[in-house]
Amino acid sequence: MKVLITGGAGFIGGNFVLRSLKRFPKVKITVLDTLTYASNWQTLEPVLEMITFVKGDVSDQKLVDSLVSQNDVIVHFAAESHNDNALSEPWPFVYTNVIGTITILQAVRLHGKHLHHISTDEVYGDLSLESHQRFDEFTAYFPSSPYSASKASSDHFVRSWCRSYGVNATISTSSNNYGPHQHVEKFIPRQITNLLDGQRPKLYGTGTNVRDWIHVNDHNDAVWNIIKRGQKGSTYLVGVDGELSNITIVRMLLEIFGLQLDDFDHVKDRAGHDRRYAVDATRLRTELGWTPRYAEFHVGLEETVAWYAANETWWRASKETTEARYSRTGHA
Ligand code: NAD
Ligand code: DAU
Repeated sequence: MKVLITGGAGFIGGNFVLRSLKRFPKVKITVLDTLTYASNWQTLEPVLEMITFVKGDVSDQKLVDSLVSQNDVIVHFAAESHNDNALSEPWPFVYTNVIGTITILQAVRLHGKHLHHISTDEVYGDLSLESHQRFDEFTAYFPSSPYSASKASSDHFVRSWCRSYGVNATISTSSNNYGPHQHVEKFIPRQITNLLDGQRPKLYGTGTNVRDWIHVNDHNDAVWNIIKRGQKGSTYLVGVDGELSNITIVRMLLEIFGLQLDDFDHVKDRAGHDRRYAVDATRLRTELGWTPRYAEFHVGLEETVAWYAANETWWRASKETTEARYSRTGHA
């Protein structure tokens, strides 16, 4: 099987490349990535001889046509992925997440290939903190941020290409990922690297917002299950019942670092901050027999802390620019 992975120099795509090489050594991998600030070349450097790397944009139709024609499956991770950036500058989100996905769809349609599109639970909007409701395949789309609106839009285009042109596509809608190789702008790596630098964690607002955490390898294993066994045109939600409030995670990290549980700062809240996400992955488990391997969040979190502690060269270069950006937006 030949697989084209877009966004393979980013967090989830990079872990997907590394894990796929280990689990399926016969699969031929090509990565297409334009190497934005969110990518990290060091993730792919150790495996460059085992893959083909193409630096380019997912909105470049000619390049995308040529790459899609040479592969069997396209796993489309490439996106602008950070909510705070979308709030300050939404246009790159429209360009990459919407136009880029349509560009991929046109090529997949032309060459008759299988597209697996990576989506997010944020397309459903948020849930109240008090309810026990969870998102499932039938939940109506109700995105609340510029980022989630761009992702929701891309999902609509994928479904419409399936219906109108008979394109073979599957979609996975995952909850928040954590693990190694995640950019330090994101919640968990930001707090870990703050603590490694002797700085206090920064909690938006009250810290009661809830996210549903999944280890990146569990997400990526689910993606392979869907590629191999998923029904054409179907969406599968990916999650491990990992709901935790932000303040709980900050306290878990403070405990790992042997610090006082109130050793953190409350900073300015995110505009329109989604309160809670929660994913019901029953369809993935029952229909495709998927089971997570990293169900114990505290174990995965400790491993993630150890990874950042051991890999300072991977994150150091982006830490200062990221914190400078947070200072400008009042989140520092
Ligand atoms: P990321 O920001 O870490 O990586 C994105 C990658 O895409 C980077 O390597 C970047 O250079 C590349 N890219 C951006 N614009 C591009 C373009 N125009 N052409 C080619 N490459 C481009 O993102 P991530 O956290 O790994 O997320 C990957 C996907 O998973 C995204 O589609 C995101 O919406 C989705 N997702 C993320 C999470 C999460 O918790 N991180 C959860 C659910 C879904
Ligand atoms: O739910 C899936 C989504 O998860 C993905 O689609 C996105 O690509 C991914 O970035 C993530 O979005 P979030 O906005 O949930 O993730 P983020 O890491 O930015 O923030 C997680 C929570 O932590 C959120 O409630 C905001 C809060 N936060 C974030 C930062 C950076 C803080 O309290 N302090 C911080 O410093």
